[in-house]
Amino acid sequence: MTVSVGIDKIGFYTPNDYLDMVDLATARGEDPNKYLIGIGQSKQAVIPPTQDVVTMAANAADQILTTATKKEIAMVLFGTESGVDNSKATAVYLAHLLGLPSSTRAIELKQACYGATAGLQLAADFLRVHPTAKVLVIGADIARYGLRTPGEVTQGGGAIAMLVTANPQVLALEPTSSYHTEDVMDFWRPTYRTEALVDGRYSTTVYLDFFKTVWTDYQRQTQRTIADFNAFVFHLPFTKMGRKGLRQILPEASPAQQAQLKEAFEASQLDNRHVGNLYTGSLYLSLLSLLRHGRMQAGDRLGLFSYGSGAEGEFFSGILQPHYQQGFDSDKLDQLLAQRRRVSVVEYEAIYQAQLSNDGRDVQLPVGEGQAKYYLAGRQHQQRQYRSR
Ligand code: COA
Repeated sequence: MTVSVGIDKIGFYTPNDYLDMVDLATARGEDPNKYLIGIGQSKQAVIPPTQDVVTMAANAADQILTTATKKEIAMVLFGTESGVDNSKATAVYLAHLLGLPSSTRAIELKQACYGATAGLQLAADFLRVHPTAKVLVIGADIARYGLRTPGEVTQGGGAIAMLVTANPQVLALEPTSSYHTEDVMDFWRPTYRTEALVDGRYSTTVYLDFFKTVWTDYQRQTQRTIADFNAFVFHLPFTKMGRKGLRQILPEASPAQQAQLKEAFEASQLDNRHVGNLYTGSLYLSLLSLLRHGRMQAGDRLGLFSYGSGAEGEFFSGILQPHYQQGFDSDKLDQLLAQRRRVSVVEYEAIYQAQLSNDGRDVQLPVGEGQAKYYLAGRQHQQRQYRSR
């Protein structure tokens, strides 16, 4: 008999500062509705120098791990394209910060915004062979474009942490998935750059083409149609992107189902609208948003579309489990988002420029009292100084 495997718990962390998109539009001489409606973003997370993907992942994972669960983690799969070292994996720093056992296997996965999905699928296959193990899958990134570029409105950052197990309490993954790879130059970041290079409009076209390809192939493999789905969850670099994805397949549904799928989409984009782009974590923040704000029921089938520029796309599905609401702490997430500080455009630009320099000098960061349990205190002898309080 096939073992049921999937997402047992989800944690999410984003730093304490945000930029309001009306403020950004005003400063850039754009109509605010272009950002609010045309792009579909209301706020974006602003990442201080004291947070990087390792600390954000630790702050997200801390919400879902107990001392007992930590002992059972067999593997940490860290999806990111904002790595802090070209050699050493972020997963190793993370495993140490969280106090995971040294018997853990810890690796980093990169394929633009697809890394966390690679982690999730590899974890699922591992668990089908080792059903008593638990795997920690991370999707953490800092979405960083240039100041005053078209991509600026699609920035953000944060981390998703997922505990992936057999007999999961949130989402049981179905074994069939469809994936597709092509060598495409829509978005890339050479090792000498801190900001991405992007052909923005081309990337949206490739996203939609890949979605069509994998959705069609998934239906061919499974003989399922849109009528078999209760909701679709999309990778959301900005919320309008997923809206366009859904629009592409809506004509396949009955009018009643179209209304239901649109309602589910509105729920799935709410949290992303207020955080911005997490790159590889975006699909899973959208899943969390759907589960927090949507009217979903146990037994519902969800379709998930993952896309990483460069490019890799995957469509897969999962069945919502009876106690799915116990797999995350919705009140805590409300609190995390509500307590954030609105920064001015001037403050945001200063924080943007204040990233840890690339010259290897010793640095001590002003850590203050802060909100985050895990933080970066600086760099000494070319080594990042991670701390917890
Ligand atoms: N009110 C409402 N909507 C408005 C508007 C207004 N006043 N002004 C413009 N818009 C709409 C446009 O019609 C357009 O909608 P559409 O995409 O449905 O046609 C949307 O706002 C964006 O306008 P556009 O002129 O295309 O924006 P842009 O050239 O500044 O760039 C991106 C938009 C997404 C290409 C750019 O932000 C980018 O490069 N982002 C990074 C890449 C990315 O995230 N790619 C995603 C795939 S992974």
